[in-house]
Amino acid sequence: MSFESVHGKKDKALSRRVDEICKEFTIDKSELEELTYHFIDSLEAGLQPLGKDQGTYRNMPMIPSFVTDKPNGTETGLFLAADLGGTNFRICSVELRGDHTFTLQQLKSAIPDELLEEEGVSSHDLFNYLARRTSVFLRKYHPDLLENGESKPLKLGFTFSYPVDQKGLGSGTLIRWTKGFHIQDTVGKDVVQLYQKELETQGLSSVRVVALTNDTVGTFLSHCYSSGDATSSLSGEISDPVIGCIFGTGTNGCYMEEIDNIKKLPQEVRDQLRKEGKTRMIINTEWGSFDNELKVLPVTKYDVAIDQQYSTNPGYHLFEKRISGMFLGEILRNVLVDLHSEGLLFSQYKTYEQLPHRLKTPFKLSSEVLSHIEIDDSTDFRETELSLNQALRLPTTRHERCEIQRIVRAISRRSAFLSAVPIAAVLIKTGALHKRFHGEVEIGCDGSVVEYYPGFRSMLREALALSPLGPDGERKVHIKIAKDGSGVGAALCALVA
Ligand code: BGC
Repeated sequence: MSFESVHGKKDKALSRRVDEICKEFTIDKSELEELTYHFIDSLEAGLQPLGKDQGTYRNMPMIPSFVTDKPNGTETGLFLAADLGGTNFRICSVELRGDHTFTLQQLKSAIPDELLEEEGVSSHDLFNYLARRTSVFLRKYHPDLLENGESKPLKLGFTFSYPVDQKGLGSGTLIRWTKGFHIQDTVGKDVVQLYQKELETQGLSSVRVVALTNDTVGTFLSHCYSSGDATSSLSGEISDPVIGCIFGTGTNGCYMEEIDNIKKLPQEVRDQLRKEGKTRMIINTEWGSFDNELKVLPVTKYDVAIDQQYSTNPGYHLFEKRISGMFLGEILRNVLVDLHSEGLLFSQYKTYEQLPHRLKTPFKLSSEVLSHIEIDDSTDFRETELSLNQALRLPTTRHERCEIQRIVRAISRRSAFLSAVPIAAVLIKTGALHKRFHGEVEIGCDGSVVEYYPGFRSMLREALALSPLGPDGERKVHIKIAKDGSGVGAALCALVA
């Protein structure tokens, strides 16, 4: 057999296998429906009083945020905001100007690798680091707010983007870590107290951590502040902010729920809020944990491997592991290694051991690489060749690159289709499309995937139209990028605390 036909055969075998994989990643209309209705059930279930499994929160946590009002853009004041999220810690000062605008100064630092290690890291190490960065920030950007090294009284809103059990606006205990942290002694502790204590050891006792919030709540508030409430502004807006969501390293969303429906809030708390004239509260859904039981979520062998072998929280946040930026590259890495083991890719490496080290390293392949491959229309997929070489030191043939692009597109499409599910579900559950402003709604979004991943938003819209919302519902949904949610949102929380 000629050299060419051997290669032709191999190429065909690879293409056939990739066809199968792409099929496994496809979500059709009926699956979208099933997922959406199961999501609505999970929203309802999560609002009920916690059952016997309350210690584990395997279901969607649906955390009451204790934020009961939407800002309208007229809020004013200077606040500090700290943000511990996926890969960075950010400390900022936010001046709300009261006209939908703000000024923000910030110090952003990559979380040191040693704090993400599995062994020997304590809460003290983490929160001491946060307090030291806070002190550096104040000395560098706000010497005006310091007197003899001590700060003037300042309120700080803390955006902590991990599931917490929140008992009020100013406190919350960590339920579990997600997105790479392992520090066991933080679980069950009040993260506000941990941070406050370390601020005090840095001589910053006048900085008071008054509000604890989640990035998704921050995004929602900041979107409301910047866009303004149509009933109270003259900006001519005709849609209503309904959901705040994050599609970045992790994924999550929040929305406003009728307090009467939040049965998990003790009766006396609901009565008190009603007395104060409050009718709604923002719920942080923690939708990354949708369907941890895998009743309706699609499951490929790659999803199982990532959850069980490589993730820090096996069995939890399974929705997030199919959607968010932290996992998209890892899914592709698992597929590539698997195709190599089947003898269909990278035949220059005879064994697994011989593969480039980076291809064997979990989480080494970032979603940014996928975003380059996704839209590569260069001759012979040169962009892809370059990206894979740079990121993984992995040489590829033209045909391999063409097939890798198909896999990348299947992974991102599944991510975007799944991302449409919570949006459709919340809109149906709240009946938002049948309310004021002709049912036009705004979704305030933040995160690298929704902001930068090419085509993500159009695929999400395509899925919304296929979902039970239908094309008429989809047309009423305005997806807006809300910037600086964790800064402005935390400041707005500190304001009302
Ligand atoms: C966390 C959420 C957070 C989301 C987006 C998830 O892993 O559990 O609290 O909002 O990531 O950052």
